[in-house]
Formats: sequence, structure tokens, C-alpha cells
Amino acid sequence: MPTIAVVTRKGGSGKTTISTAIAGYLAAGDVPTGILDLDPQGSASAWAAARGDERAKVLGVRSRPATLREDLRRMGASGVAVTVVDTPPHSDAALAGAIEVADVIVLPSLPSAFDLHALSSAVGSVKAAGRRGGVVLNCAIPNTIAIAEAKVAVAEMGLPLLGVLHRRMVWQYAAARGLSPAELDSRSEATAELNALCGAILNLIES
Ligand SMILES: Nc1ncnc2c1ncn2[C@@H]1O[C@H](COP(=O)(O)OP(=O)(O)O)[C@@H](O)[C@H]1O
Ligand SMILES: [Mg+2]
Repeated sequence: MPTIAVVTRKGGSGKTTISTAIAGYLAAGDVPTGILDLDPQGSASAWAAARGDERAKVLGVRSRPATLREDLRRMGASGVAVTVVDTPPHSDAALAGAIEVADVIVLPSLPSAFDLHALSSAVGSVKAAGRRGGVVLNCAIPNTIAIAEAKVAVAEMGLPLLGVLHRRMVWQYAAARGLSPAELDSRSEATAELNALCGAILNLIES
């Protein structure tokens, strides 16, 4: 069962926003989808619970590093075809566990120096584990040079750039309603960016 983990060591980089959006994208495409929530705050599992009955179900399960493998196995046994793993910011055990079980690791970062510095440490963990993965630059602001500089920094880290997401309120509106941006507004720019990101992730899984 393909597993997509979303990890970084920094809070506020968009892990939960991106993991829930990927899960919503997959579920809306008729893929039986689960989200394993390794963050004790439980936002990703609350997001899954907030999805109305009229939406394609995402099975949300809270998990811990110690039970991650067993929880994943149960996901598969209950019919889930793809699991997205959301992780907390400051847990090396969760980061290492998620990297170990994932087929693809998605590493979000804001395009700022401090965030990119924290990103490089997580990229190092992914490379040391010999796993496939890539970076998502999140909360980019249009017409700023920060994004160009961040792209150069990411290229030097040696993992592919899977996507660039701009700072837009639709990400927050969708998350608050248990939706992905694509489910809230299929024609928004955020939806186009999410579609491109998910396409890149699926390509990586298939490669
Ligand atoms: N692309 C975006 N545009 C606007 N707001 C965003 C975007 N990505 C994340 N956010 C907001 O930034 C904050 C941190 O995102 P979150 O997903 O909770 O990060 P993390 O899980 O890494 O701590 C949240 O309030 C979220 O709604
Ligand atoms: Mg989070």
C-alpha cells in the first residue's frame, strides 16, 4: 500500500495543510484514502472527521511512532489504498518512523532562510535513509525574489522540487471545512498547484 509521509522539523511549514489536501485530492479521485496522524495535536484526524457525509471518506487515525507500522497495517486491512502520514514538528522518533515506512516523503518549507535551514536537516535524514522524496515550497508570495532564492537552495540539497504553493486564504478555508482546495473550488489557482503537486508525488511513487 503506497504511503506518503509529510515531514519537516519545523512547525508552521504546512505539513498538516498539505497532508490533508493530498488526502482530500486522492479521496475525491475515488482512491480509498487514510490519514495517519502522528501529531498529538490531532489536527489531521480532526480534519478527516470534519468531512461531511457528502464527501469521499478519508479514514483518519491517530497514531504514535511505537504503533505506526501496526496502524498502517490496519489501514490496509480496512481497505485503504493510499495512506498519508502527517507528522509533528519536534519529534525525531516520529520523523524517523515516518521516513522508514513511507514510499515517498514530502518535505514542505516556507521560502525563508530559517525554514530552509531546518529543511536541509530533514532532507539529510531522507537521503541518509535512501528514500524517495521531494520538497514543496509553501506560502510563497507572488512577485518576490524569495521563491527564486529558495529554488536555488533546494536544488543544492539534492532532492527534487515537487511543487510551489502560494499563500492563499483558500488553503485555510478548505482545511477548516475538512476539504482540500480542489473540493472547495475546482478552478482556483490553489487547486492547480495542488493538482501539480499530487501529480509529481504520484510520478515519484510510480518511478
Ligand atoms: N499555502 C498556504 N496559504 C495560506 N495559509 C497557509 C498555507 N499553508 C499553510 N497555511 C497556514 O499556515 C499555518 C501553519 O500550517 P500547518 O499546516 O498547520 O503547518 P504545520 O503542520 O507544519 O505546523 C496554518 O494556519 C495554515 O492554515
Ligand atoms: Mg501540523
